[in-house]
Amino acid sequence: MTSPTASAPATPAAELPGTPLQAELQGAVDITPQALRGALGRFATGVTLITCVDADGARVGLTANSFSALSLEPPLVLWSLRRASASLAAFEHSSHFAINVLAEGQIGLSRRFASGKEPDKFGEGLWSAGLGGVPVLAGCTAVFECERVSAQVAGDHVLFIGRVLRLADAALPPLLFHGGRYHLLGEIL
Ligand SMILES: Cc1cc2nc3c(=O)[nH]c(=O)nc-3n(C[C@H](O)[C@H](O)[C@H](O)COP(=O)(O)O)c2cc1C
Repeated sequence: MTSPTASAPATPAAELPGTPLQAELQGAVDITPQALRGALGRFATGVTLITCVDADGARVGLTANSFSALSLEPPLVLWSLRRASASLAAFEHSSHFAINVLAEGQIGLSRRFASGKEPDKFGEGLWSAGLGGVPVLAGCTAVFECERVSAQVAGDHVLFIGRVLRLADAALPPLLFHGGRYHLLGEIL
């Protein structure tokens, strides 16, 4: 016999018991960009340089900590790029991108790639061409070479999802970012 719930249609997430509707969530607190940035900064992250090639084959990249794991099978990762970024057109064009996860000694590269005024971001570091020609950095703690599977506008950012085609795992101590500052890894608990 079929149980009463087996054929019931899936309940939309917003209607699940105890799940506030989007409108209620938005009205709950006055969420200014400053407050949001501060609270998000409590979430410690690693630091990555995400790279691609533009329509002319020129190398493009930026410092990003929005990188996150998404799926193991299939192997998917995500990150987001400000829509106002000078790098947006290149990432929308490029079929591939690389996530270069910085090691603790690579803070200079992080600062360099976070500067919109740096005329030659790739003038420092040992770079090689990975899948799809994307720049891959030597000395990282990990590298994920990805094929872009989607790019969708989400607020003032574009959310990129990539399928990992190749990875490198050097297991070096990572560079960390927390509260708007760089950190080294602390004690293991
Ligand atoms: C630690 C750190 C993390 C960052 N993460 C992101 C990010 O995830 N997405 C983003 O669009 N910008 C991020 N930025 C800012 C960009 O690195 C910066 O705006 C850069 O200049 C963008 O490149 P562009 O000049 O080509 O637009 C981050 C900066 C720092 C220092």
